[in-house]
Amino acid sequence: MTITLGGLTPDNPVFLAPLSGITDMAFRRIARRLGAGLVVSEMIVGQELLAGSREGLRRAQYADDEAPVAIQLAGNEPRSMGDAARLAQDLGAQIIDINMGCPAKKVCNGYAGSALMREPELARRLVAATVEAVSVPVTLKMRLGWDDSSRNAPELARQAADLGIALVTVHGRTRCQFYKGRADWSAVARVREAIDLPLVVNGDIASTADARQAMARSGADAVMIGRACQGRPWLPGQIARELAGGAAEPEPDLAARRAIVLEHFEAMIDHHGVHLGVRCFRKHFAWYAEGLANAVTARARINAEDDPDRARDAIAHAFDEALNLAVAA
Ligand SMILES: Cc1cc2nc3c(=O)[nH]c(=O)nc-3n(C[C@H](O)[C@H](O)[C@H](O)COP(=O)(O)O)c2cc1C
Repeated sequence: MTITLGGLTPDNPVFLAPLSGITDMAFRRIARRLGAGLVVSEMIVGQELLAGSREGLRRAQYADDEAPVAIQLAGNEPRSMGDAARLAQDLGAQIIDINMGCPAKKVCNGYAGSALMREPELARRLVAATVEAVSVPVTLKMRLGWDDSSRNAPELARQAADLGIALVTVHGRTRCQFYKGRADWSAVARVREAIDLPLVVNGDIASTADARQAMARSGADAVMIGRACQGRPWLPGQIARELAGGAAEPEPDLAARRAIVLEHFEAMIDHHGVHLGVRCFRKHFAWYAEGLANAVTARARINAEDDPDRARDAIAHAFDEALNLAVAA
């Protein structure tokens, strides 16, 4: 099934998953430029957005080159969720995604995120209020259910479809699994049987072979990839090109990676400001450095650097050194 959302058609069926604290605007722009079919904002608590919280507004920022702009909201109060969705639409969202998958205790204790899966009546009202509040397509991201004894994703998806949801994404784990075990792509097939809408399968997809298998087992139309993109913003694009019939692609070489990492560093500073940008980039660098011969010393240098110019030099030096080591080997 070709995915269309209102008048929008994602470029390809390989989407970047929302990862709070990781897939901020800086990361999403790079992933999208490198070929991700769709990117989604980090989860924004609807009430924080309505209150104008700094963090909520930061998370709602987007760049035009990310389009179509998908903003993800979490909440547990239908009226404020509708208000938040309307505000997100006014801020430029072309798609509103409802988070019904987050397992975090902080979110679940407020009956938001995946906790909504065991409050089906509240979930239904929340979806209805969101869909009614906006004219843009509303999508839903969920898990298989709360726990093994209540795998109600198919039922919830069917109800959401009746209420006007445009696309459903399912992470093939229950809430109580958190991130343990393996995502069960076959279990997502029960959702496929329940709805005619575009369906996206998510969880533990890290390669083109995984993407093919996840789609075959679930019957989904697209895949969404999260943790495997940490330090690899090029991954969705690579997988998309391979699924479209392109030749298997190697990882970008060190020179190409150096350019991407430096681009990401600058984008983090633009988005978060110098102080936070330099610090928040450290975790990304730790992922980017995986596999470099000088990873340990390079990480230590960058973690100790607060000055943006010296941090930039340290990043460039880390890759130059790795290149020299590779040539010498
Ligand atoms: C650090 C972290 C942050 C996450 N933040 C969000 C979020 O903001 N919204 C959301 O819907 N899911 C969030 N998730 C869940 C992912 O989108 C995804 O469903 C999950 O990681 C499984 O996919 P993966 O195996 O490809 O990572 C987060 C996951 C992680 C590990």
